[in-house]
Amino acid sequence: MLLRLPGVYPPQEDTWLLADALAAERLGRDSRVLDLCTGTGALSLRAAAIGARYVTAVDISRRAVVTTQLNAILHRHSIRVIQGDLTTPVQDQRFDVVISNPPYVPAHDDVLPTRGVERAWDAGVDGRVLLDRICTHAPRVLAESGVLLIAQSVLSGIEKTQSMLEEQGLSVEVVARAEIPFGRVLSARAALFEARGLIAPGQRTEEIVVLRAAKPSLDKEVM
Ligand SMILES: C[S@@+](CC[C@H](N)C(=O)[O-])C[C@H]1O[C@@H](n2cnc3c(N)ncnc32)[C@H](O)[C@@H]1O
Repeated sequence: MLLRLPGVYPPQEDTWLLADALAAERLGRDSRVLDLCTGTGALSLRAAAIGARYVTAVDISRRAVVTTQLNAILHRHSIRVIQGDLTTPVQDQRFDVVISNPPYVPAHDDVLPTRGVERAWDAGVDGRVLLDRICTHAPRVLAESGVLLIAQSVLSGIEKTQSMLEEQGLSVEVVARAEIPFGRVLSARAALFEARGLIAPGQRTEEIVVLRAAKPSLDKEVM
């Protein structure tokens, strides 16, 4: 069971797709996991449940932070929860696994909401404002041989995520895919997406993917 304050993103298909990808990772005994954009903390809880020793959860929303703290207590897991902007509060730390299900829905404009539940999904015209920042900054907090797992829609361009991460020396692959029907938010934007050529006329499903980006070990970097 998960508690959830009003305005906090309810875990859904993208959350669970990422949770399954996380469960496929081999976490060492002292593994450090960073959950960027934690929401209810569902992914942090999963990380702790499968053996991560140090779990850090970051979200910009105060309600999400309080929700995650409550869920950590409820599930008796020790999770460090920080209110902040992506990797900014942890930029001098290193993690073995970084997981993120960030806002990635293409919006009407590039002005990001500063409050309300829309902050959980609106991500600028191309849906990439948060994704691009994560692609730039997450590799810097990855430990040697660390892994970034990131969920997004194909509507916000998986090729760009892949190329940005590869440019930083990471090996990238898509490890999970799911075709899901449009919910309320995407249904309301279907005409906009059709006009932009993001979806075919009448299309009312989107594909969600999880990308896995692995940082090489120092040995391999030297070679
Ligand atoms: C799609 S929800 C994902 C929540 C949760 N990880 C899950 O999978 O169910 C995205 C989350 O990102 C948070 N967020 C938005 N902008 C952020 C930022 N700049 N830094 C950190 N968190 C942010 C939102 O508050 C929201 O909780």
